[in-house]
Amino acid sequence: MNAITVKDLTGAMNLTQPTTLYAANEHRIFWLGNTDETAFRCNTYLIVDHHEAILIDPGGKRHFAQVIRRVAQILPPEQVNGMVLCHQDPDVAASMTDWLAVNPSMRVFTTPRTQVLLPHYGRSDYWYCDVSSHPVYTMPSGARLNFIEAPFLHFPGAFVTYDAQARYLFSGDIWAALDLDWTLVVDSFEKHVPKMNLFHLDYMASNLAARGFVKRIEHLAIDAILPQHGSILGSQHVAAALDYLRQLHCGTDIIYADLENDHGG
Ligand SMILES: [Fe+2]
Ligand SMILES: [Fe+2]
Repeated sequence: MNAITVKDLTGAMNLTQPTTLYAANEHRIFWLGNTDETAFRCNTYLIVDHHEAILIDPGGKRHFAQVIRRVAQILPPEQVNGMVLCHQDPDVAASMTDWLAVNPSMRVFTTPRTQVLLPHYGRSDYWYCDVSSHPVYTMPSGARLNFIEAPFLHFPGAFVTYDAQARYLFSGDIWAALDLDWTLVVDSFEKHVPKMNLFHLDYMASNLAARGFVKRIEHLAIDAILPQHGSILGSQHVAAALDYLRQLHCGTDIIYADLENDHGG
């Protein structure tokens, strides 16, 4: 079977079913959709590999019914055996207890700093996989997920997930965008920049945090960036996306701009 990638996606979207973003060698990636017409649209993705299925950014409680309906269009939801929680924000992780009710043996892939907070959603009796100590997870096909920490973008324990077979980077809040004229895949990067600015200028910690993260991932071959909010960036936009972060002035750079050259002397 020929590989399907984000390059094959046209502008036409059917929001009543999952969208295949990648399919090759028994390894498939879906966008599960979100019909909410909100600027803060949340993306949930599902990686299916033989008998395993892992949710990326499962989402809040409000969208759980919709997400599980989409999963059920692909496989029995109780077959989902893992979820990647890139940080603990409710829009990423609040549905974790609902998913644990569906499959109590579901693994939770996250960092120790996130793990400290997750039990506040009401359950701590789950299978926690520490992605800081175990940064690679191999799926049944041999496809590897690499977990890469992204400190202070925006949470101290935030991380991204790189699917080495698809060459897709699940970036969580990094490269997230807020807009009402949403499309699944970015067309013009230039027009997308103000939408990313709406999020990054307020949420991301600093230029140093952004540049430090780029150094960690710039060696990767990336065919698509899949953020938790906004649109997917195809391979033609990856170089510009890295540059966007290198040049980003945000967070404390803006709030404390007057202290920039003030070294306390
Ligand atoms: Fe967040
Ligand atoms: Fe978010």
